[in-house]
Amino acid sequence: MRRNNFSIALLLALPSVFTGSCADEAKQPEHTAAVRSIQLPDSTKFQASIDGKQTRLYTLKNSNGVTACFTNFGGRLVGLWVPDSAGNFIDVAIGLGSVQDYAGPDDAYFGASIGRYGNRIAKGKFTLEGKQYSLFINNGVNTLHGGRKGFSAVVWDAEQLNDSTLKLSYLSKDGEEGYPGNLTVSIIYSLTENNELRMQYAATTDKTTIVNLTNHAYFNLNGEGSGSIGDHLLTIDAERYTPVDSTLIPTGELAPVAGTPFDFTKPVTIGSRWNEANEQLKNGGGYDHNFVLNGSGLKPAARVVGDKSGIVMEVFTEEPGLQFYGGNFMAGKNTLKQGAKDEYRTAFCLETQHFPDSPNQPSFPSTVLKPGANYVTVSVYKFSVRQ
Ligand code: GLA
Repeated sequence: MRRNNFSIALLLALPSVFTGSCADEAKQPEHTAAVRSIQLPDSTKFQASIDGKQTRLYTLKNSNGVTACFTNFGGRLVGLWVPDSAGNFIDVAIGLGSVQDYAGPDDAYFGASIGRYGNRIAKGKFTLEGKQYSLFINNGVNTLHGGRKGFSAVVWDAEQLNDSTLKLSYLSKDGEEGYPGNLTVSIIYSLTENNELRMQYAATTDKTTIVNLTNHAYFNLNGEGSGSIGDHLLTIDAERYTPVDSTLIPTGELAPVAGTPFDFTKPVTIGSRWNEANEQLKNGGGYDHNFVLNGSGLKPAARVVGDKSGIVMEVFTEEPGLQFYGGNFMAGKNTLKQGAKDEYRTAFCLETQHFPDSPNQPSFPSTVLKPGANYVTVSVYKFSVRQ
């Protein structure tokens, strides 16, 4: 009900941005062919009962017209409309059209809230306070993104706090997916007046456990169906990265990026080196690596410019790492929400996180959470246009 009232209010307030008013299509620059105006997904396609809980679509908006849709299935970002250089709204978040698609076998964590442990844990094993724990192996020989049914595949409790803020909550029970401790998790997604999508994660536990939460949004700053991300310009604020073995588990080394295809300290197009003969690129099938961010606190982590749209996305995070995934496993198996396929390397992810396999790497920043401690971490995706 609330959502319907909200949509009506939006339509009244912003008639020109919403679909239905395509009269001025001819004036749109060529690159906006994919998305000319804000066409919200069909909310009925997000209404389902999964695991006895109701799923639905939630829409956030700030006063600039920036709009984000989420579903509480997997805490997924379904779409994110931001203005391009010409002032047209582009949906930069690559997503699917229904909750059934998100729950399908080929979903690759599109827009998902990830946990209890984002990224990989070697062989699905770790030891805490002298006890060994075993997780489900769902990625070759390792555990990826929580296991068989991580936080990306559960139904979160959702509360829309106001027009621009959504709170998601989930209780991950002691032993769920093999992790110890009842973990009470919340994520507050908000759209700020500075055109930021702010993500605030919080968790507490009643037994010592491990936690590494992130969001797995896929972006193409030129919009869905606009082809490869190869010409997007990328900067990452990292002098070092964590090289991996052939199963994408870090070797433990913090290697300098200087002189390698992993040097994004100055802006460089994503595709300019991704096919180079390099052992690390071979291991990842391209870029699928964690970068060791410079600095501390809520700091700049990355900046991306959409070559056709002029949209600039900046990432800020309190996390020590950033996984840059270049869409190497995308294989056109999913139909995206506007009808394009999720073709090879047509979207990227910048996942703010602790380093992969930290529970087995004593030299990495710790991901252990103890009873009585509060896990709180903030990450931000900020949008503007190239000047
Ligand atoms: C993460 C991983 C990638 C891949 C994607 C989903 O980003 O690091 O290797 O599994 O998720 O396809």
